[in-house]
Amino acid sequence: MAIVSVEDLTVAYGNHQVIKDLSFTINEGDFLVVVGENGVGKTTLVRALLGLIKPRSGEINIPTGIRIGYVPQFRNLDEEYPLSVRDFVSLNCRPRLIPWLSKKERARVDRLIRLTDLTRIADRPLGLASGGEKQRAYLAQALLQDPQLLILDESTASLDNEMKYELLDLVTRFQQNGLSVMFITHDWDLARNYGTRFLYMKPNGYEEGSIDELPQNGDQEEEK
Ligand SMILES: Nc1ncnc2c1ncn2[C@@H]1O[C@H](COP(=O)(O)OP(=O)(O)OP(=O)(O)O)[C@@H](O)[C@H]1O
Ligand SMILES: [Mg+2]
Repeated sequence: MAIVSVEDLTVAYGNHQVIKDLSFTINEGDFLVVVGENGVGKTTLVRALLGLIKPRSGEINIPTGIRIGYVPQFRNLDEEYPLSVRDFVSLNCRPRLIPWLSKKERARVDRLIRLTDLTRIADRPLGLASGGEKQRAYLAQALLQDPQLLILDESTASLDNEMKYELLDLVTRFQQNGLSVMFITHDWDLARNYGTRFLYMKPNGYEEGSIDELPQNGDQEEEK
């Protein structure tokens, strides 16, 4: 089943056209990696999928009722950030923060904290957590509403290699239970390791395919 289907999508900021005639689909259980150089429109695409920016033309079809979890590209909380890891994860329980959770909500928060291996630091301030722990907390928060689609915008960029693989192994466990993933990255090795499909956004057009069709020399092109 298609969770997202995009047809001839064109998105612009004023008269700066960023995405032009883009078509692709994400099916249930896909791990779609999105690659492409800085400024090509990857984050803009995410904003369009989330309904935060209105397309100039084209169509985005997401079946009604589909829940989307989202980990944004930049969210560096400083050391002063006051919420505990647990409270931060709980923020996604309800549209607004209220100081108490129902038993059921609390159980759901605890489960995600366990699954993302944050139990040990759950009551410490998130601001003092390591980069990897913060990313796991963002992930736990995004997964709290049991989304069918998880969008990760370069969630591994600040992590060391081992942590990158740990985080994506974790994501893969959810994906194997039917979650669809859209993972934006500049790391072509990670893309090849975890993706099942790819979308390669280039300044002059787009390529989509199964991961074994991802161009071999793409990462060198990226660095040019
Ligand atoms: N709010 C905005 N208003 C005007 N232009 C914008 C806005 N947001 C992004 N842009 C421009 O749109 C283009 C695409 O930006 P976008 O953030 O989608 O790129 P990206 O592929 O995510 O890049 P990166 O790999 O660096 O994250 C860039 O030229 C950027 O300057
Ligand atoms: Mg971006």
